[in-house]
Amino acid sequence: MLKAHNHHKSMTAAGSFHSHPILHLLFLLLYINPLLAFLLKSCTILYQKIPCDDVFLDCASRELVVIPNDIPKDSAVVKLNSNQLKKINIDDFCDLSKLKILDLGDNQISDVDDGSFKDLVTLKTLKLTQNTLTTLTNNTFQGLSNLTVLDLSNNNIHFIQPFAFKDLTNLQNLDLGRNKIQQVSDIQQIFQLPQIQMVNLTHNLFSSFETKHLLHNFTSNLEELIISSPNMKTFSISTPIFPNLTKLDLAVSRNCTFLNWDIPDKTLLRNITHLYTSQPCLSFKSFQKVLRSLDSLNHLRLNNMDRFIKKELLSTVCIIPTLRKLDLFYNYLNNLTLKLALCSQLTEFDLGETHIKELSKGSIKSMTILQTLSVRANQLSEVPYDIRNLPTLKILNIELNQITKLSCNNFVNTTHLTELYLQNNYITKLKRCVFGNLTNLKILNLSKSNLRKLENVFKLTLHRLEVLNISDNKVTDLETGVFQGLQSIKHLNVASRSIERVKLATFKGINNVQALTVSLTHRYEPDFRGLKRLENLTIYLERVPLLRTDELMNYGAFSKTMLKSLKSIAVICTHNHQDFPLNVPISLLQSMKHLEDFTAENVYVNAPFADIFQFNPQLKSVTFLKTDLSNLDPNLFQKIPNLQALDLSNCKIKALDFMVQANLSALRYLKLAENEISVINETVFHSLPFLTYLDLSKNPFTCDCSNAGFILWAKNQKQTQVANTHQYICFFPADKRGSLLFDYDTLSCWDDSSFFCFVSSSCLVVLTLITSFVYNFLRWQLGYTFHLFRAFLYDSRKRKEGEDYQFDAFVSYNVHDEGWVYREMLPMLEEKQGWKLCLHHRDFQPGKPIIENITDAIYGSRKTICVISRSYLQSEIQMASFRLFDEKKDVLILLFLEEISAHHLSPYYRMRKMLKERTYLSWSAQHPGVFWQNVQRALQAGDAPENSDMLTGPTGR
Ligand SMILES: *[C@@H]1O[C@H](CO)[C@@H](O)[C@H](O)[C@H]1NC(C)=O
Ligand SMILES: *[C@@H]1O[C@H](CO)[C@@H](O)[C@H](O)[C@H]1NC(C)=O
Ligand SMILES: *[C@@H]1O[C@H](CO)[C@@H](O)[C@H](O)[C@H]1NC(C)=O
Ligand SMILES: *[C@@H]1O[C@H](CO)[C@@H](O)[C@H](O)[C@H]1NC(C)=O
Repeated sequence: MLKAHNHHKSMTAAGSFHSHPILHLLFLLLYINPLLAFLLKSCTILYQKIPCDDVFLDCASRELVVIPNDIPKDSAVVKLNSNQLKKINIDDFCDLSKLKILDLGDNQISDVDDGSFKDLVTLKTLKLTQNTLTTLTNNTFQGLSNLTVLDLSNNNIHFIQPFAFKDLTNLQNLDLGRNKIQQVSDIQQIFQLPQIQMVNLTHNLFSSFETKHLLHNFTSNLEELIISSPNMKTFSISTPIFPNLTKLDLAVSRNCTFLNWDIPDKTLLRNITHLYTSQPCLSFKSFQKVLRSLDSLNHLRLNNMDRFIKKELLSTVCIIPTLRKLDLFYNYLNNLTLKLALCSQLTEFDLGETHIKELSKGSIKSMTILQTLSVRANQLSEVPYDIRNLPTLKILNIELNQITKLSCNNFVNTTHLTELYLQNNYITKLKRCVFGNLTNLKILNLSKSNLRKLENVFKLTLHRLEVLNISDNKVTDLETGVFQGLQSIKHLNVASRSIERVKLATFKGINNVQALTVSLTHRYEPDFRGLKRLENLTIYLERVPLLRTDELMNYGAFSKTMLKSLKSIAVICTHNHQDFPLNVPISLLQSMKHLEDFTAENVYVNAPFADIFQFNPQLKSVTFLKTDLSNLDPNLFQKIPNLQALDLSNCKIKALDFMVQANLSALRYLKLAENEISVINETVFHSLPFLTYLDLSKNPFTCDCSNAGFILWAKNQKQTQVANTHQYICFFPADKRGSLLFDYDTLSCWDDSSFFCFVSSSCLVVLTLITSFVYNFLRWQLGYTFHLFRAFLYDSRKRKEGEDYQFDAFVSYNVHDEGWVYREMLPMLEEKQGWKLCLHHRDFQPGKPIIENITDAIYGSRKTICVISRSYLQSEIQMASFRLFDEKKDVLILLFLEEISAHHLSPYYRMRKMLKERTYLSWSAQHPGVFWQNVQRALQAGDAPENSDMLTGPTGR
């Protein structure tokens, strides 16, 4: 009688845990429209800091073979490039009536159903580059009336039906480069499009391009034509069909036969202002003729034309009176005595990537109205002499050369220079006089060079300089006041691995700086005094040993009055410093009343003090990367109630429990990638009412019923996007390793038959809400009564049958402790000691109700081992089964994984009572040998209670 009574109690207790997720599930199934569900199987909606109606969907590079069917209807941008799509079906993009940009590039699409894009009435850009399309039919682009940009390059298109483009009434830009089009008449329709501006026809198979092959009763609006073909024999514009053509690009085509350039009337090209050529298939003479026929030429680009330039093409070029801009990049011009002096009419001149070793004195001297000059990416060893004689120069680019020193005369007359790019050279020294006359300079880039000292270079010069980058040099010391004089500076980057000392008052006098990037080391004396307008500060911590908290505090350099205007701080430690714990001291953060963004990467060894943000109530975004936060104190977030974005990636986090107490009520973005989370209790998210983006990629998930609640939650609620789910991979149990968490079939976690029965019957009566509830109620009541009865029968039968056990012990544990069970317990008890254990993740029969499985397991095992931890006590399911063990307490072995105070145990009446009556074992990582010996003895012992006093060990309390 007593037994039956107890049984009843344990079963209803178990029932209460069971009914919760089930009701939840039923609720979800009945009321949530799956079309609105927010878990995207293959795509991620990009998080936007400023909420906006446009949805940006990223499905690129995910090995997709079909278009996902769960693309949100309000997507504005969809990236599906770099997948393995082969076909576009008619219903792939239906109803995406807000789509503006669709990228399908870099797939294997050979087939597009007619009308596949017909619903995309707002689409502006469609990219189909790098596919294997061969044919465009009358209806391929049906409905794309708002399309302005269409990229069809790199396909095999050779057949275009005569009305393929008819709907593209707003098309401006069409790229058909690298296809197999042969006849100009095939693309006649393109030139007739009312808004067409640019057509790219490079690398096709035209044997000629002749306007006489086009209809004569229209004029095209085309402005830019890019054309080339290795077999093209004739290029002929003999009819006034392109009155608006201003840009002509005769692009690369190697090994071509000579082209017949046939423009009988040069007024037909009178509007051409831009000519871009790269190895045109023209003879030198015909090319000269072409140049002479262009009366309005303003911008000439000659790439890969060394052959002609050697023949003094420039003498022809430089006498074009209208020419203002000349690009000679991608030529091999070394050893050429360039006849540049004649080009005195230029305002822009690009000599980048021309392999020149020097620009001889006088060669560009006559360009007296030149404003922009680039000699980037050459082999110059000094600044060309003539530059000092170009007083009108505004922008000068000398990056990526081999300049080792700058002299005081280099820029002596270029007083109008506003931008100077000198990065990626080998400059070792700077004298103060070098920039002495550059009073108008706004941008100076000297990064990635060999500078060792700055000394007084910037002192009292460069009054208008706004951006200075001297990062990645070999400077070791930043002296006091070294930047004094840069009174307009707004962006300063002095980060470098070689920094050793940053002296006091280094940044004195640069009161307007808004963004500062700096490297510091252990010997630094950080002093940001005076940076009253600083908003963004990035600190790289270089080399061991580093600043330690006490050291930093002693300098007192971060006084309370400083960095008041700071909005964003990032501290990044660039090396391993396990033995030298660092801290960004509170004194540093104290003054930052307006701080909104905080980032610390690899700075803290362990979780920072909980009061770290007590003075930063404005914080909106917090990022800790590469930090051990396994002991994170939830109080850390107490003082920052406005937090919207939290990124704790790569931080050894095992559980999300801290979220519940953390008061993250404004949080919208949460990223916890690359942690050690295996089980997620979805109720955690109740404490994050505004969460819209959750990224848990690259965690070692357990794919069993312990995550069923989370999976259902993720799939069925509409507010929080669970992002990047293609990276949620099962780690436990071993047989599921490598599969996807969201492919796990949660239905097996509930009783199949009654569940399916319920779902199918409720589908029939969706409208009759009340009926389903009554049905549900009865169904489950019956279910439990049945299990209760069954367990009772089972128990009595087993008793009668005598000891016929399938397992030596059933192990009851919480999934949080699964790591310990698999790592420590299984190898010892099964492999070393030879016991046969029953683990619920491994040995439970799928499809059977959990409670039945547990009952079977307990009665099918000689002993029951409970692995008790705080998580175990908090788990309803374990506690429910614990009540079941109560029935058979004579066979129970209690293993405590961690110290649990009497206070924590107080709510667990049964367990406390049992602990009083029995001995138990406490895990000790220091003495595992003794522990496992004790477990072995306990497993060997018979059932009789008197044996229990054998169980002594390193017990705790
Ligand atoms: C083009 O898009 C606008 C909205 O951007 C829409 O109002 C208009 O109807 C579209 N045009 C056509 C022809 O569908
Ligand atoms: C394309 O459309 C035109 C005009 O509507 C029609 O004459 C032609 O037969 C169509 N081509 C095909 C293959 O349907
Ligand atoms: C034209 O097409 C070629 C080949 O696809 C491409 O490399 C080039 O960048 C295109 N030019 C423009 C201006 O789009
Ligand atoms: C031009 O002529 C073609 C056939 O000769 C005709 O189909 C077309 O409608 C004409 N277009 C215009 C704009 O007159």
